[in-house]
Amino acid sequence: MQKLNPTAQNPYNTDAAFDWLYPERIQLLSKRHWTPMSVARKAAHFLSQGEKKRILDIGSGVGKFCLIGAMYYPAATFYGVEQRQELYNYALDAKDALKVNNAHFIHGNFTQLDIDDYDSFYFYNSFFENLDKGDRIDHEIEYSSSLYVYYCRYLSKALESRPAGTRLVTFHSLGDEVPNAYQLVDASDDFLYKSYIKR
Ligand SMILES: C[S@@+](CC[C@H](N)C(=O)[O-])C[C@H]1O[C@@H](n2cnc3c(N)ncnc32)[C@H](O)[C@@H]1O
Repeated sequence: MQKLNPTAQNPYNTDAAFDWLYPERIQLLSKRHWTPMSVARKAAHFLSQGEKKRILDIGSGVGKFCLIGAMYYPAATFYGVEQRQELYNYALDAKDALKVNNAHFIHGNFTQLDIDDYDSFYFYNSFFENLDKGDRIDHEIEYSSSLYVYYCRYLSKALESRPAGTRLVTFHSLGDEVPNAYQLVDASDDFLYKSYIKR
């Protein structure tokens, strides 16, 4: 089957069209929990600079960031790790529907991964669900503020160990997982989108 050509008429080039890849319950979560198309494209552009980039989305949900990135940046490879089996399954279904082969999904906790296998990182405030009592994705997992602190520290340490030049994009983040060595290079006017390069 033919791959989508991002420069031709891409039927999935708006949030509404893209979200139709998922069942209604997942579509309803989109505004709050999944990366908007414009943000995904901007982040993927920044993170895919350079040759053969391996980009990891830490907490990939239903795969929206990875799949949009993979459609528009075919030279890069996008990886997503997601702790919820149901969301991971939806990411695989959407990947099949889009017929992209440069996006890969892993079911599990990000702490089980070797971060050294990846070059650049995307993070949409995945650990905040441990602090936020309203508007949760589901009630299937345990939440706690100590888990928030543990995950932030774990990720910060892992990012700290990456080489100079490592790129990171955060969206809606409180910054608790960003080590000092990461220099802010761009931010949206509302400061929800931030991109960094490690010094
Ligand atoms: C705000 S959603 C973002 C989804 C996706 N990155 C996107 O932008 O469309 C955050 C996701 O992170 C996942 N998550 C939270 N903590 C995680 C962890 N420790 N390991 C793996 N996934 C995690 C949640 O299950 C949720 O699906």
